[in-house]
Formats: sequence, structure tokens, C-alpha cells
Amino acid sequence: MNGTEHPGPAAGEPEPARRVAPQYPPGHYHPAEFGYSDIDDDSARWASRGYWDATADDYQAEHGAFLGDTDFLWCPEGLREADAGLLGEVRGRTILEIGCGGAQCARWLVARGAEVVALDLSAGQLRHARALSAATGIPVPLVQADAARLPLADASVDTACSAFGAIPFVADSAAVMREVARVLRPGGRWVFSTTHPMIWSFPDHPGKEGLTVVRSYFDRRAYVERDWAGRTTYAETHRTVGDRVRELVAAGLRLLDVIEPEWPAGHDRIWGQWGPVRGRFFPSTAIFVTDRPARPT
Ligand SMILES: C[S@@+](CC[C@H](N)C(=O)[O-])C[C@H]1O[C@@H](n2cnc3c(N)ncnc32)[C@H](O)[C@@H]1O
Repeated sequence: MNGTEHPGPAAGEPEPARRVAPQYPPGHYHPAEFGYSDIDDDSARWASRGYWDATADDYQAEHGAFLGDTDFLWCPEGLREADAGLLGEVRGRTILEIGCGGAQCARWLVARGAEVVALDLSAGQLRHARALSAATGIPVPLVQADAARLPLADASVDTACSAFGAIPFVADSAAVMREVARVLRPGGRWVFSTTHPMIWSFPDHPGKEGLTVVRSYFDRRAYVERDWAGRTTYAETHRTVGDRVRELVAAGLRLLDVIEPEWPAGHDRIWGQWGPVRGRFFPSTAIFVTDRPARPT
């Protein structure tokens, strides 16, 4: 991806993996193999759609109460838009949420006077979004689409946002940045949270086991799981901090801030590899705050 070979394992040595064994709820499939490889766009999209369809019920059951039915949570550290104000004024704004899952963030925005479209690749997640909108009485227009192919007109939204939606899973995140830049009006903001690039080097573990470097930060190959037929069933992708900045700048966006939420005292909820033990030492989330300049720079 960057034309540089990362230092792989020495001959005969097993490749160090961040995941010791993939964690799936009982009753779900277990991959036949997992490891690191390059991945194309279509395989990543196919895998994400299947994975999130299959796990949407478990995801919402496990995290729904913490997310809140009508609340904007940026990350497992518990940072909420109500406190962070990263999107600026939302009242009266047209806002696109990408990778909305149950559309909790979108409903929070609607409740604050924004006109919102919430988009996700997974019909399973959108089913939860619809049900939660019915339960709360806060309707949100939902769109099933890929973040890299937004079915929206040029310069049609004031703001775009994403809380861990799509970005950690797409093969071509540069394409997502270009698409968001295209649909944003000049002066509009694009704010997204994603896994912090540095955690790629550490085991996928929230405790002490997650504090020792096992992989090269510079290894851009994706973490992939495959089924018995060799099809990719789950993929997580990696960009370094520099990669992210370059993708944003190449899309014509301006980087305004990078938030690295610190683990708050008294917050002990573990979410995957996010937790208080590791959170004391380094960030696991990065939130990129960008805008499309009012005039091209
Ligand atoms: C970790 S969940 C986050 C959902 C929600 N934002 C939240 O905070 O609960 C990731 C979401 O991204 C969606 N997603 C993954 N790949 C996508 C893509 N290529 N385009 C759009 N959505 C995608 C998944 O379906 C899933 O709902």
C-alpha cells in the first residue's frame, strides 16, 4: 500500500496475530482460518455485510444500553457528542450518519433539530434502527448503502459523521473520504471515530495481555477471517496516522483536530479490546475532525 515492505516473521516463525482466537457468541460461525492479508474492496464489503447482518442482534443486545436509544456516543471510552460538541451547530443542519448501526446517533441529532439521513451496509443493523425509531417515536430516514458509494448528490449535506461506522472495515478508506468530500457542502464538517492506529501493534485484549507489541505498526495488511470455502467473512483494516492524514488531504478535506479520548476515571465497562487497564496507558480510539474548506485551498 505504501510501497514499503514491513518486517514479516523470520523464516519458520509463526506470524504474530493480534487475535489469539476470534471471539464470537455461541451459535455463530467460527472461521476456518484467520490471519493477515491484502484485501480487495468487494471482499471487504461482502464480509462486512454478512458479518454485521449475522451479529446485529448480539451487538445491539450487548451494547444497546450503553449506546442509549437516542444518544450520540463516539467511542467505548464513553465520550458523547453532548459533551464534546465536535459537530458544531446541528440544529437546522442536514446531516449524514455513515455506518449508523441502530441509528442511535442519528436519532439524537433529529431530537436536536437536525435533518438526518442514516446509512448502513447491513440490513440486520437497519432492522434495529427501524425498530428503535418506532419505539422512541423519533423517525430517521434510513439508507442501505456502502460508505464508498454514497447515493447522495454532490454538495447535499452540511455535516457528515460516523461513530466507528464503516471506516475500520473498508478496504479503500480513501474512497470513503473522497465520497464524503463530494457530498459535503463547502464549509461542511466530517467527523469520524475509528480504532486508533497504534492499537494495530497490540493484541486485541483490554487487559495486561494487550500491552505488549506483537505486530508491526507499518504492516497494512488487513486482519481477515475466512470460511471453509475460502471466502472472507470478516475484515478489519489498518491505516497509520500518516495514511489517514494523507487520505483526508488527498480528498480535499482539512484536518482540524484529532481527539484521542483518555479513559475516564470510574469507567470500567469493557468493550472488546477497550477497557480501563489498557486505557490507562494509551488511546484505543481516534476521532478525526475535518471540514471541506469553504473555498478550495
Ligand atoms: C461498530 S458498528 C458501529 C455502529 C454504530 N455507529 C454504533 O456506534 O453503534 C459498525 C457499523 O458499520 C457498518 N458498516 C461496515 N462496513 C460498512 C460499509 N462499507 N458501508 C456502510 N456501513 C458499513 C456495519 O454494518 C455496522 O453497523
